[in-house]
Amino acid sequence: MCGIVGYKGKREAYKIILDSLKTLEYRGYDSWGVAVIGNPSISVVKEVGMISDADSLINNTKITKGTTGVGHTRWATHGNVTEANSHPHLSTDGKIAVVHNGIIENYQSLRGELKKKGYVFKSDTDSEVIPYLIEDFLKSETGISFEDAFRKTLYLLEGTYAIVAIDKDSETMLCVRKDSPIVIGVGDGEYFIASDAPAFIEHTKNVIFLENDELVAFNGDMKIIDLVTGKKLSKKPQVIDWDVEQAKKGEFKHYMLKEISEQKETINKAIHQDNKVIQDIADAINESYGTFFIASGSSYHAALSASYTFSRIAKKHINVVDASEFPNYEHFLTPQTLMITVSQSGETADVLDAVKVAKKKGVKIISIVNVMGSSLMRNSNYSLLMNVGPEICVLSTKSYTSQLSILTLLAYASVGKLDEGKALLKCVANHVGELTDPKVLLDTVEVASYLKDKEHLYVIGRGQSYPTALEAALKIKEVSYIHAEGFAGGSLKHGPIALIEKGTPCIVFAPNDETKKEVLSNAMEIKSRGGYIIGVSDMDNEIFDYFIKVPDVGHASPICDIIPIQVLSYYLAILRGCNPDRPRNLAKSVTVK
Ligand code: G6P
Repeated sequence: MCGIVGYKGKREAYKIILDSLKTLEYRGYDSWGVAVIGNPSISVVKEVGMISDADSLINNTKITKGTTGVGHTRWATHGNVTEANSHPHLSTDGKIAVVHNGIIENYQSLRGELKKKGYVFKSDTDSEVIPYLIEDFLKSETGISFEDAFRKTLYLLEGTYAIVAIDKDSETMLCVRKDSPIVIGVGDGEYFIASDAPAFIEHTKNVIFLENDELVAFNGDMKIIDLVTGKKLSKKPQVIDWDVEQAKKGEFKHYMLKEISEQKETINKAIHQDNKVIQDIADAINESYGTFFIASGSSYHAALSASYTFSRIAKKHINVVDASEFPNYEHFLTPQTLMITVSQSGETADVLDAVKVAKKKGVKIISIVNVMGSSLMRNSNYSLLMNVGPEICVLSTKSYTSQLSILTLLAYASVGKLDEGKALLKCVANHVGELTDPKVLLDTVEVASYLKDKEHLYVIGRGQSYPTALEAALKIKEVSYIHAEGFAGGSLKHGPIALIEKGTPCIVFAPNDETKKEVLSNAMEIKSRGGYIIGVSDMDNEIFDYFIKVPDVGHASPICDIIPIQVLSYYLAILRGCNPDRPRNLAKSVTVK
């Protein structure tokens, strides 16, 4: 979590950093801050709240002009949401400014040592030790450079970090990564640093992906050093295939609606994945002695849904485990096991941790990931890029359906029917185009208006629709803050039915498959107790109080079924005055465990 940026070049840093931070806001939006090297000192601005609300600060008078600076947008881990806890943190002499993403696990002992030396802490963060340690090395070792003081500081830090530091005296900018993301943009005589490339693709698409323990010094030119061997490295920039417009809202009011509307196109991108690559992964699944799908959040729901598709189409059992629970499965891993990780960001800490556990047992790792150069991609034996472009809204929408599409293709390919899978998805993409038509989207406002003041809402589905019910409930609760729970229709009678009162809304997924009859019986049980039934189905039914029509696309139905609920979630957020792109307490990339 948290987004960090750095800029060193010939243009005014403040404006560039502000714009970059706005793009990275999905990584955390509790507070933000910018520091720029100016004359006579480094100037700093920090604010609690979202940077997107800070347009009036573009011409901030507190910030002096300068061409080197750092910025940070925070998702609080250590310390409350206050200005003092916001980054950048300065050294006591004000000559060094630091932004940090990650967690310094031994910060308490480092703080203790620094306090003994007379350093007075202004914040409760783990990060504040970093500028003080650098300062301490500079003061106590004659002739030591900023770079060496930084390097010595890194040797003392335990935990995860992406750090950018600037020094007033040498006008140098430094950055490093260890298990937290950081990428470098190489422009014409200027350098950009960010947690994620969309922050600077407006300026350059030439990107250098750093490995752990690589330190980069910017002072006129750029020098990359391997901290383990001490050797200078030469790394060529890669060109990132993302469009500037993809990272902008365009005519849409929110990224969430824009990304929901892009799904026809992103499913088509899934269809155009290289046949050989899909087939090779499907063959690896067939050849493995046990396959695990590992993911978190919506990606986990996509993986769970796909396990039903594999069961139906390929009669193949896939173990699906929430990444945070995966370490409990390590005893069942052998070098013949295959792990397929599914992650939009490729930076989710629980997923990366699961990979570490699996690697120790010799497991082969294949990842389905959206962000090129992400930690997951670098830690996998093989990666398949989703190619949905940047997903900026904290909620997963186009990533979810892309993951479902790619996994569906894998299921078809595993029984030699890749072409059939592609033909089915073509049909899905066309239906998704209809479901996301601007006029159809607005139809959902009616049911959203009915639900907007409800406190609780339940969602049921059976078989392949069970993961869809979990995902639907997650979408609704995370963006509208209505308490929503998804259940397997069959588990209703084992407890949840006690929650049904007169008027309790319940969304029922009733696709045209083997589950239809039974899920309609479950709906009837809810209705008999006063529940209000919102049916999502290919056909209306007298049990439904409100009907949402979705197409019958066979095994690929979960892809279409979730879309009206994504739209419903969006309008619930709007009607309840919530920001759909920035739900409270959440972050898009969960880089802490
Ligand atoms: C966070 C996001 C979710 C996302 C999950 C997994 O919780 O808010 O939208 O599904 O992380 O993220 P990943 O990048 O691994 O798919």
